[in-house]
Amino acid sequence: MILVTTAGKVGAETARLLRQRDVPVRVLVRDPAKAAPQELARLGAEIVVGDLSVPASIDDAMRGVSAVVLVSPAVPAQELNVVASAARASVAHVVKATSKASPDSPIARRRWQSEIEAGLAASGVPHTLLRSNAYMQNVLALAPAIAATSSFGSAAGQGRTGMVDTSDVAAVAAQIAASAAAHAGKTYRLTGPEAISNYDVAAVLSKLLGRTITYRELTVEENKDAMIRAGVPEQIAEMNAQAFALTADGDAEWVTDDVPSILGRPARSFEQFAAGHAAAFS
Ligand SMILES: NC(=O)c1ccc[n+]([C@@H]2O[C@H](COP(=O)([O-])OP(=O)(O)OC[C@H]3O[C@@H](n4cnc5c(N)ncnc54)[C@H](OP(=O)(O)O)[C@@H]3O)[C@@H](O)[C@H]2O)c1
Repeated sequence: MILVTTAGKVGAETARLLRQRDVPVRVLVRDPAKAAPQELARLGAEIVVGDLSVPASIDDAMRGVSAVVLVSPAVPAQELNVVASAARASVAHVVKATSKASPDSPIARRRWQSEIEAGLAASGVPHTLLRSNAYMQNVLALAPAIAATSSFGSAAGQGRTGMVDTSDVAAVAAQIAASAAAHAGKTYRLTGPEAISNYDVAAVLSKLLGRTITYRELTVEENKDAMIRAGVPEQIAEMNAQAFALTADGDAEWVTDDVPSILGRPARSFEQFAAGHAAAFS
């Protein structure tokens, strides 16, 4: 039995892919009435209700589990609850979704990921880290603005990002969870096939949508305020704007072959991603 903690973007797709292979899957969710858990239940996944801040609910979900796919917000207390539960249950492997974690990053989220990675290492549970570049799905947060104004802004300047599609992150997570021993102790750096700037994003969307989409370079403060106005909580808007400022300086300009090496097929391009979500930008 493989436990996937939460049915967010990566978790839901990982569980779906494992069910496609007929692997027994359990998914821990807070709200089983949401669309993703309902769809996964139809595919034969076991849905258990729990909360990552409640250790007893994680222990219930951990019974009989051989591997865990840990993919949830980078909140150390919550993800370390999962790690501790996995250690108590002598789980054989944890696949952990993470980012460019570092204990001295200026971005709190990256320091938190680093704390979780350190706790996982200290737990002694064999594990694999999926250190992803920015998700292509982040661009969907701009879709309402693009649909309404045919423009979008960011503090990323002209910086390039080796963006990865969450469906590729999920495909890698499913592959590793299903053949965990071969991947113990490894860190994979997951990216798309190329590093692109927001000018490239605008060009791809313009071609796809048949109208000109304009990219505007924003200051960090302008970018943070725009995200807050769009409904992003202030702390997250702050971390996102900081990350975009680093992107402007080349921080996200990295591309690897890890996705194609593990999956035996090319990583999905931004063109493919955009085409699959055209309706959201229209
Ligand atoms: N975005 C990026 O560019 C990027 C890049 C690299 C790495 N990452 C990492 O990827 C991970 C996030 O993956 P994702 O984008 O697939 O996640 P996501 O779509 O944001 O989904 C998060 C899920 O966690 C659930 N959740 C939140 N708090 C919970 C709690 N206390 N108990 C149970 N469930 C809870 C949410 O459930 P509800 O539906 O109930 O809210 C939601 O289903 C993070 O570790 C992040 O740092 C992200």
